[in-house]
Amino acid sequence: MEVINTISQIRKTIKEQEKKGKSIGFVPTMGALHQGHISLINRAREENDLVVCSIFVNPTQFDNPEDLKKYPRTLETDCTLLEAAGCDYVFAPTAEEMYPTLPKLSIDFGNLEHVMEGKFRNGHFSGVGTVVAKLFHIVNPDRAYFGLKDLQQVAVLRRLVNDLSFDLDLIPCPIVREKDGLAMSSRNRRLSDDARKIAPQVHIALQKAKELLIQGKSSTEVKTIIEEHLHSFPELKAEYFEISDFDNLEPIPAMNNEGQTAICTAIYLDGVRLIDNIVF
Ligand code: PAJ
Repeated sequence: MEVINTISQIRKTIKEQEKKGKSIGFVPTMGALHQGHISLINRAREENDLVVCSIFVNPTQFDNPEDLKKYPRTLETDCTLLEAAGCDYVFAPTAEEMYPTLPKLSIDFGNLEHVMEGKFRNGHFSGVGTVVAKLFHIVNPDRAYFGLKDLQQVAVLRRLVNDLSFDLDLIPCPIVREKDGLAMSSRNRRLSDDARKIAPQVHIALQKAKELLIQGKSSTEVKTIIEEHLHSFPELKAEYFEISDFDNLEPIPAMNNEGQTAICTAIYLDGVRLIDNIVF
């Protein structure tokens, strides 16, 4: 496995491989890797000749400077995990390499800006869209892999790929969870031992909501019941708990009988923002 830090070098390397007819699978990350990320590498490994993983804590997608500062940076252990998973190239640029000057471009993802993550994290998806477009131009992959843990990110990036005709397949991959149901996240390591014990309640609340919707309760009824349930854990502070149409992520009044239903939430615990969802 080779670790590359500059745009010119990764471009050169990939162009040489493409000339040899090799297909490229790409997994963009911000590092602090866990088995959720590795599941994407494994999938990319199965479906491509070469696997490229980028590790870049992208400053333009953080609306909270404290969150950016606290984001874990563990390049060495990340590389050990990636090598063991059969990754071929790690692209790990500095912020100066990616942004000699901060990008002035901003991207508006329409209705996706006004719900859930878009509503609560100002400019977040513009930052994600810009960095992922830039990475796609640099790496020029055949396939790019993203986790459904960030359901709205997948919707935003699908729009980016379609609207700008990126010549690649965007492949959504299932959420990987800890044994107790907590969705794996780089942020989980910031939870205190006590908070870690409460954290699975996020997934439990989602499952409970799913059951209630299947029983025929309305979204409003379900949200009231879940709110009450979450009140028994004063440490949990829900930012949003939304019941939405899986395709357009617009709120829906009850379970979707035509298509799929997505229940999505962001909950603060111990100063850590946990996001999770369930699709059925
Ligand atoms: P990051 O949070 O590092 O996540 C990288 C990829 O791993 C994303 O596609 C995310 O959805 C996926 N992922 C994280 N936890 C997962 C889990 N438990 N199960 C399955 N997949 C999981 O998402 C980003 O970075 C950034 O926004 C990025 C796309 C790299 C742009 O900066």
